[in-house]
Amino acid sequence: MKAMVYRGPYKVRVEEKDIPAIEHPNDAIVRVTRAAICGSDLHLYHGMMPDTRVGTTFGHEFIGVVHEVGPSVESLKAGDRVMVPFNVYCGSCWFCSRGLYSNCHNVNPNATAIGGIYGYSHTCGGYDGGQAEFVRVPFADVGPSTIPDWLDDDDALLMTDALATGYFGAQLGEIAEGDTVVVFGAGPVGLFAARSSWLMGAGRVIVVDHLDYRLEKAREFAFAETLDFAEHDDVVVALKKATDHLGADVAIDAVGAEADGSLAQHITAAKLKLQGGSPVALNWAIDSVRKGGNVSVMGAYGPMFSAVKFGDAFNKGLTLRMNQCPVKRQWPRLLEHIRHGYLKPSEIITHRIPLDDIAEAYHLFSAKLDGCIKPVIIPNAA
Ligand SMILES: NC(=O)c1ccc[n+]([C@@H]2O[C@H](COP(=O)([O-])OP(=O)(O)OC[C@H]3O[C@@H](n4cnc5c(N)ncnc54)[C@H](O)[C@@H]3O)[C@@H](O)[C@H]2O)c1
Ligand SMILES: [Zn+2]
Ligand SMILES: [Zn+2]
Repeated sequence: MKAMVYRGPYKVRVEEKDIPAIEHPNDAIVRVTRAAICGSDLHLYHGMMPDTRVGTTFGHEFIGVVHEVGPSVESLKAGDRVMVPFNVYCGSCWFCSRGLYSNCHNVNPNATAIGGIYGYSHTCGGYDGGQAEFVRVPFADVGPSTIPDWLDDDDALLMTDALATGYFGAQLGEIAEGDTVVVFGAGPVGLFAARSSWLMGAGRVIVVDHLDYRLEKAREFAFAETLDFAEHDDVVVALKKATDHLGADVAIDAVGAEADGSLAQHITAAKLKLQGGSPVALNWAIDSVRKGGNVSVMGAYGPMFSAVKFGDAFNKGLTLRMNQCPVKRQWPRLLEHIRHGYLKPSEIITHRIPLDDIAEAYHLFSAKLDGCIKPVIIPNAA
């Protein structure tokens, strides 16, 4: 089969690999019909994620058709159209039984903090991902669900991460009716977090980024006010002015460890590797929220120390909540929202690119070229 393969930072290409085999009775092999590239894949692509091994296949956002199932699989059969959450999880450990699927204790011998993620380095379990013609799906009775007939492929694909994560970001913000919510980052996760904030009762939603075309999407798709941080000497002061000088009630970081906006942070993080990333957006979230406010962190951060304004968060009495999204937990509610027309997630898709051209897709998305917001990869076998 053809699969995307990592060759080192900024180098990906398509190679021939063996079609994955059933390794455990509860595995399924899925023929991928659509995969997406995520902002999280860029951390791998940029060489920021520890233990990203040459030869591995990325891709934690994918849907497909069941090709083969192991002997113990009961809920799926060959031919089923399935969506697969990005988390690999057992469904029965202490954490899974409390809904903490992203913190499963049984799927990742390489780390105690994080569970398994498809195509997301050996730090996250070393599972090959779905930017390929076929993928092995462990715990096939636990993660995947058959896609309802009324749900189209593009919408289903966005359920596997970006939509669920944006929604989870708004949920962890614990938005009260009428709250002002500031969302940092107008990528897929930020757009969905902003849009979801309304569903949770926000009175005002402000999205911060520095890419015009994404801010435009935030106005159109997420009905948000927007603020271009490059146009302000101090974005926190601008946000304070916009919120009666008290600050927003809730801030959502949908940027993560590769934030722009501070040269010093960029040099110490990306160039000198003195910190695990650049926490500019997280610090802006801490600074721009009011005392006693909530900060929800969806942007990804590695395990190492970064210069986060933790003391300010402490002294302001903030509530900080964060995690990798436990995707399947969000599905019942999201399916209702889509079915009733409150959400059409595929409106954020900008590019459809054959698997053969995946290197170009990574380049477009990483360099934010050609108005790219969400590139979808179509494998040849689909
Ligand atoms: N928690 C989870 O489960 C989960 C799931 C998916 C993605 N993520 C993470 O969410 C983050 C966003 O993902 P995405 O797919 O939307 O990525 P993306 O790269 O498309 O979007 C990030 C956006 O942030 C903007 N940005 C950069 N610096 C900024 C700053 N200082 N302030 C405001 N905006 C800034 C960029 O211009 C870009 O538009 C990534 O870190 C990704 O790893 C987390
Ligand atoms: Zn993702
Ligand atoms: Zn588990």
